[in-house]
Amino acid sequence: EYNFREFSTCEATIQMLQKAAADGVETAFQRAAEMKACPIGADSACCKHCAMGPCRLNSKDPYSKVGVCGATIDTIAARNFARMVASGCAAHTDHGMSMLDVFREVVNGRIADYKIKDEEKLRSVAASIGIEVEGRETMEIAKDLYEELERTYTQVDGEIPFVSRVPKKTLETWRKHGVVPRGAMREIMEIMHRSHMGVDQDYENIVKQCSRTALADGWGGSMVATEISDILFGTPKPLVAGVNMGFLKEDHVNIIVHGHEPNLFESMIDSVNDPELVAKAKEAGAAGINLLGMCCSGAEVLSRHGVPHAGNFMSTEAVIATGAVDAMAVDVQCIKQALVQMSECYGTKFFTTNPRAKIEGAQHVEFHEHEPRKCTNKVVEMAIERFKNRPGRVVIPQRRDMGVHGFSHEYINYMLGGTFRGSYTPLNDNIINGRIRGVAGVVGCTNPRVKQDWVHVELVKELIKNNVLVVQTGCSQIALAKAGLMKPDAAVLAGDGLAEVCETVGMPPVLGCGSCVDNSRILIACAEMVRVGGLGESIADLPVAGAAPEWMSEKAISIGQYFVASGVFTVFGVTFPTIKETKFHKLLFEGLEQMGFGKWGFAADPYEMARMMIDHIDKKREALGIMG
Ligand code: SF4
Ligand code: FE2
Repeated sequence: EYNFREFSTCEATIQMLQKAAADGVETAFQRAAEMKACPIGADSACCKHCAMGPCRLNSKDPYSKVGVCGATIDTIAARNFARMVASGCAAHTDHGMSMLDVFREVVNGRIADYKIKDEEKLRSVAASIGIEVEGRETMEIAKDLYEELERTYTQVDGEIPFVSRVPKKTLETWRKHGVVPRGAMREIMEIMHRSHMGVDQDYENIVKQCSRTALADGWGGSMVATEISDILFGTPKPLVAGVNMGFLKEDHVNIIVHGHEPNLFESMIDSVNDPELVAKAKEAGAAGINLLGMCCSGAEVLSRHGVPHAGNFMSTEAVIATGAVDAMAVDVQCIKQALVQMSECYGTKFFTTNPRAKIEGAQHVEFHEHEPRKCTNKVVEMAIERFKNRPGRVVIPQRRDMGVHGFSHEYINYMLGGTFRGSYTPLNDNIINGRIRGVAGVVGCTNPRVKQDWVHVELVKELIKNNVLVVQTGCSQIALAKAGLMKPDAAVLAGDGLAEVCETVGMPPVLGCGSCVDNSRILIACAEMVRVGGLGESIADLPVAGAAPEWMSEKAISIGQYFVASGVFTVFGVTFPTIKETKFHKLLFEGLEQMGFGKWGFAADPYEMARMMIDHIDKKREALGIMG
């Protein structure tokens, strides 16, 4: 009864949604269609922060009512927003904390399975926060780096270490408004306190703490996650890699790792290459073991090692319907609870691995960084078992999309500047001479309330057509990879200026930077653009814009807020949790910009979104005197 083409533009996903429906299994697409979003909640016009409520305001006439305590629509919406920022920031910083835990144990010599793989990166990160590196041993530097970065979380007063990377004028704006993060734990604690019933009831003051908390994500927890992962597992360099379900192999044991923390994935790579396990798989009649990623940890290993990626967030249920997935191992974030039942239907072995994320009915095989292979070997063994007794038919959509992934900010530096004058100067030059109009970050989730991938793809096509260079992370990057835009020859879809730069450098018009925490790479790239000069003094001066066209998670709100607080105009699609006529909405969408920050924008339509971003870029170009 459903037209699955309305749910998605991903052919593999559509095919599997049809198969699932024929098999009598439903997915989030059907559940979304059947359950309309609550209109009061969508407008953030309800409050359940105490037992005098829950209170519902009238979103058509937002100032006609207040909550039982007297809370206005601005207070209620700002508090709801604050808690989304808190949760999103907590997710990214807790992920960064896990990476830091591994790093500490590596430095202390208590972990044997991981080591410092990228010493050069270790040195450059240490130097960037003022640690002496000249003539010092790697392990000495690493100890200092650990101690410094721990302050990102635990510091109660002062400024987090990576503010040293923030352009001076941007930092001045933060200091002026009192939004420089002290430590992530402190900021998250304070925002939870302030959004409690009866505490902070001034939406402007609440938004300040939203910025401070979100900045502890972007320039804090997320940046720590990215930098430590690079140090431990290697900094990505461009490589050709494949995306889509066609990388499942019927005659292999197929294992998917889905989640966010790369340590699980790195150990799984070791396990699937273990000769003993490969031999076991062959004994079971398989040609070998085939490992794929999904979601963000998948995007990281796609970038670092070229491990194929099966699909983004809205394909995680669909991929199970292939019947080809022998095991799916998950860790944290974006794991739909429905995957357990879906896996049951198709006989896929589904494993939770992280003590912070168990799912009722799922088999839990706990992952410990001290003995990571215990968990990952077990998953492989169980996958081999399942391969031996595959129930039902296997149908693999034959879609494979090759592209170039792995554009770290270091590599962008190198690529544009060449070995000896590695810098962002050529990028800035091309922006100033007008070949490149500006840079857009297009990132974030997919959401069953819109046609999967469509908004991402149309937006990006429109941007590159107008000579805007696009940088990407997360599920958005996977959407564009499936659309074929990660290939250098996609430059034919770009405007003349951008196409010329792409052809000269040999790069695609769309640069994949990795996972959601790797949005921190985009922040660093922005800081570099300011540092090399010619494009203003703060991030807010740059001709750049950001978008999360199909966002769904609280993490996305935290990301949006840290980009806005860093000075970037950031447009979200799908829906936005504010009411247009309210003071809180006007602060996010206009007021913040007047204070020297960026601002929020909203458009559900990709062409409208592109127009808003391009207009903004043009406005910034004009202010810089580089029009035309
Ligand atoms: Fe209602 Fe105020 Fe309680 Fe919220 S805090 S539920 S608005 S009484
Ligand atoms: Fe993610």
